[in-house]
Amino acid sequence: MRYNAAEQGYVSEKLTMLIVTDIESLRERLRAWRRPGTRIALVPTMGNLHAGHTSLIEHARASAERVVVSIFVNPMQFDRPEDLAAYPRTLEEDRCRLRDIDPDVVFIPAAETVYPRGMDGVTRVEVPHLSSIIEGASRPGHFIGVATVVAKLFNMVQPDVAIFGEKDYQQLLVIRRLVTDLDLPIDIVGLPTVREPDGLALSSRNRNLSPTERAQAPGLYAELRRFADRIHSGELDYASLEEQMMHNLKKCRFRPDYVSVRRAGDLAVPDGSDRELVILAAAWLGRTRLIDNVRLTLMNDR
Ligand code: PAF
Repeated sequence: MRYNAAEQGYVSEKLTMLIVTDIESLRERLRAWRRPGTRIALVPTMGNLHAGHTSLIEHARASAERVVVSIFVNPMQFDRPEDLAAYPRTLEEDRCRLRDIDPDVVFIPAAETVYPRGMDGVTRVEVPHLSSIIEGASRPGHFIGVATVVAKLFNMVQPDVAIFGEKDYQQLLVIRRLVTDLDLPIDIVGLPTVREPDGLALSSRNRNLSPTERAQAPGLYAELRRFADRIHSGELDYASLEEQMMHNLKKCRFRPDYVSVRRAGDLAVPDGSDRELVILAAAWLGRTRLIDNVRLTLMNDR
């Protein structure tokens, strides 16, 4: 890694990836690229990159001429200080992983860069209702933190397209709504969850699981699949299915937070006519909180 004055940042020796930490340098670089026919993609992350992030960045590469990856552990979206402190920070490993995919810019701002006046009293972005149900009810303020930092990143980068994973399904809907409500000219792309061979959704939090918990963790996805199969085979009492899944998770040593069947488009409680559904679940294994979801489409002849 060496500093390149012309590029205003650190350039990887091997490739062209530029690492910038301040907004002015980021804007300067992007200004040089912004012209008709050159699409800029943003992949916002909190680091601790894994194959799920790689798939987002590769998709960005295929859909835009320039790719910006941001790495910022956003304090505003953590409802518990101990969760923020425990969040894995692996910058060196992340840089190595990124070197293989070679995005054009990696933006790694400090908290003082993103929140120069601190977080108290700063302008916040709130997507009402969607932010306070399900995951938002379990983690008050979480989606305000997500929406605020994503809106700020959108303003800093002004991308044409931004890519997110469907593992954080509610987050994806919050961001889609934010972009619609604020008339931001950004395509929001959601990509399928990347999983371990045993079904566990890839997540930065998985590294906090003990070996025993890691062996139990695929149970969350297995239960979601079982739930979806029962709906597919005609069971329509969603409340009772939710209760049964909560019970099954407890038997598998999880401490479930919620299990909820919702309409896929807007997370409303579904009625009998809804065909596009999502089952969302969050559960603790020891000190690690896992979330996952399964989408399902019902046939019209049911
Ligand atoms: O999904 C994440 O990693 C974060 O919530 C995001 C979108 C980067 C905002 O901090």
